[in-house]
Amino acid sequence: MDSNRGSYWTETAPGTAYAPLGGDIDVDVAVVGAGIAGISTAWELARRGRSVAVLEAGRVAGGVTARSTAKVSALHTLVYGKLLRTRGAEGARLYARSQAAAVDRAAEAVEELDIACDWERRSAYTYAPSADGVAGIQAEARAAREAGLPAEYVTGTPLPYPVAGAVRVTGQAQFHPRKYLLALVGDLARRGGVLHEHTPVVGLEEGEPCRLTTEGGARVTARDVVVATHYPVFDRALLFTRLSPRREVVVAGPLDAGQDPDGMFITPDGGLRSVRTAPHGEDGKRLLLVTGESFTPGSGDPREHFERLSDWAREHFPGVGLTHGWATQDNDSTDTVPLVGPLHPAARHAYVATGFGGWGISGGIMAGRLLADLITGERPPWADLYDPRRLRSVVREAPAFLRHQATVARHFVADRVHPPESVDDIAPGEGGLVRVHGKRCAVHRDDGGNLHAVSARCTHLGCLVAFNSAERAWECPCHGSRFDIDGKVVEGPATRPLEQRDV
Ligand SMILES: Cc1cc2nc3c(=O)[nH]c(=O)nc-3n(C[C@H](O)[C@H](O)[C@H](O)COP(=O)(O)OP(=O)(O)OC[C@H]3O[C@@H](n4cnc5c(N)ncnc54)[C@H](O)[C@@H]3O)c2cc1C
Ligand code: FES
Repeated sequence: MDSNRGSYWTETAPGTAYAPLGGDIDVDVAVVGAGIAGISTAWELARRGRSVAVLEAGRVAGGVTARSTAKVSALHTLVYGKLLRTRGAEGARLYARSQAAAVDRAAEAVEELDIACDWERRSAYTYAPSADGVAGIQAEARAAREAGLPAEYVTGTPLPYPVAGAVRVTGQAQFHPRKYLLALVGDLARRGGVLHEHTPVVGLEEGEPCRLTTEGGARVTARDVVVATHYPVFDRALLFTRLSPRREVVVAGPLDAGQDPDGMFITPDGGLRSVRTAPHGEDGKRLLLVTGESFTPGSGDPREHFERLSDWAREHFPGVGLTHGWATQDNDSTDTVPLVGPLHPAARHAYVATGFGGWGISGGIMAGRLLADLITGERPPWADLYDPRRLRSVVREAPAFLRHQATVARHFVADRVHPPESVDDIAPGEGGLVRVHGKRCAVHRDDGGNLHAVSARCTHLGCLVAFNSAERAWECPCHGSRFDIDGKVVEGPATRPLEQRDV
């Protein structure tokens, strides 16, 4: 298995070639970021007759969405028990209704546009591998049922290994995320929407109208702007204090169709394990996808996580031939609920969608509909639940907030006192922090022995980056920004590259 190979979804869907934005344009709505949240929003708005431009820093549907496991489900591990405690019965009900509506919305789109995206209806399960977790699972089954989902507690599942108990929710789905989004993008273009790839947006001026500036200097004038960049790149409300990045590895490969467990499965126990299968080109085979092994970007060696997850997949699905491995990250909000709505308390025409906590496929589809509603003057019953301006509850959010801030502070302070390495100690394929003329430099030695040196200070808020040798990238442990070996931004919230250094 090559852990640096692209995701299976990227390899098995056509590429795209939308031209970068070359001049100024004027539209009703500008959407920044072409993942599932941005594309769903743009598509919903184009269907309501709005002129829309989508501006994407890289490739359409090339971000986290194309590296997820793409379960389209309203059962989100153990979220309903938690929501009952923090948002009460009504909050849990609204969450369930909005997420179930998103599953239905995707089904409608698949049918209406006749999208060949391997759409498959499946039951979703959250299970406990041992008796220790059963009480939590039983509580989740009750909470999800009270919230309105067709949830029940079961003691057996179609998995090939025993579990102690599980919540089952029927009627959920799974798909090929890139094939789905490329079809939405095709329909968006037919309705007059425009897309521009390789067009990073670097400036937002709010007003009536709003103005966006791209890295290439083009200006976009729009009545409304949606920031759907995964981690928000414009952040007047300091949302970064309410978001913590979590990176995970995914392994995948063909499995005999006879071993296909009929369902989508997740367990929060034993390092988080999530399992699904998908159609595979080879006769008599299905593709097994397993994800898990959460860690903070920039901490630890992802190769260990790949190894642990691969061992787990081979042990639990004997005979699977793992061919693919990749990693990606999502942001957890401090109160578990995504932040979807106005960008900050004074915002009139700027919106955001972020903090999906590992469930941004249904969450992104939900966000698309919610933001289109808000922009066109409607307000669905769950608008307050997701509103990023919601009052912060000290009791509800303090533990997660303090944990996150402690992590940031540790990296901000402690990483600076670690003794720097010497350039000579950096082996080919590896990277390390060295001090040159009093400044911390992030240095990578490539396989040919050439050195690539950039500033070690993240351009977001100045934490020190760390090298991820499995993926050959610099990662910031504070809020998850990622940079390539020459300092180019791969993932925000940073928008500026790491400065080049001479060593
Ligand atoms: C391992 C893993 C598995 C997952 N599996 C599931 C699952 O099974 N089901 C589920 O519901 N959720 C799942 N998730 C979560 C889900 O994948 C994400 O929440 C969701 O894909 C996020 O979508 P997005 O549109 O916000 O981000 P993205 O898909 O990352 O899109 C954001 C886009 O914005 C662009 N961008 C960034 N900055 C700029 C800029 N300055 N200018 C222009 N464009 C910019 C990026 O290039 C990117 O294309 C999983 C997450 C992980 C980590
Ligand atoms: S991502 Fe915030 S300091 Fe690096």
